Amino acid sequence: MKRQIFALSLGLLAVAAGVQAKEGVANAAAGKRMDLMDEIRASFAVIGGMAQGKTAFDADAAAAARAKLLEDAAMIPAVFKPEESDPKSKAAPAIWEDWDEFTEHAGALETAVQGLDTASLDTVKAGFGPVAKSCGSCHGEFRLK
Ligand code: HEC
Repeated sequence: MKRQIFALSLGLLAVAAGVQAKEGVANAAAGKRMDLMDEIRASFAVIGGMAQGKTAFDADAAAAARAKLLEDAAMIPAVFKPEESDPKSKAAPAIWEDWDEFTEHAGALETAVQGLDTASLDTVKAGFGPVAKSCGSCHGEFRLK
């Protein structure tokens, strides 16, 4: 019983320390970058759903997703820095060969998100395209198919 509690608290510690990685991914660093991208996708989906008329416009939810996206985009360089691989990872070796270019793409995402004004549905619609484009241009070069 004691041992179970100990194991449980270790697990909680791992979560608290942010070292928990994506399920089924053995390499912790690779898991972390995939987790970050999943988080980015979640915020992106909130904004995209509104921009594409799939969900009702909600200025607070859009602003929260934008703030989270900004925070996460700023973390891309630090989280991708360790050159680690995993069978499940789609990170291209070019990330570490062309590191400056990779971080430029991360910066471009930040700029696009900064340019996204969440005040109205029209501004969300206008700002969504450049954000989507910056995801696609980095994936095109640095994510394996
Ligand atoms: C600076 C480059 C870059 C930008 C910008 C970027 N991504 Fe990624 N993304 C990657 C790379 C590289 C991977 C592959 C990571 C791996 O598998 O190790 C990835 C993986 C993903 C994944 C799969 C994660 C998983 O669990 O396997 C999703 C989803 C994703 N990105 C969504 C997005 C969205 C949405 C945006 C834009 C809002 C975005 N990304 C912007 C580089 C980028």
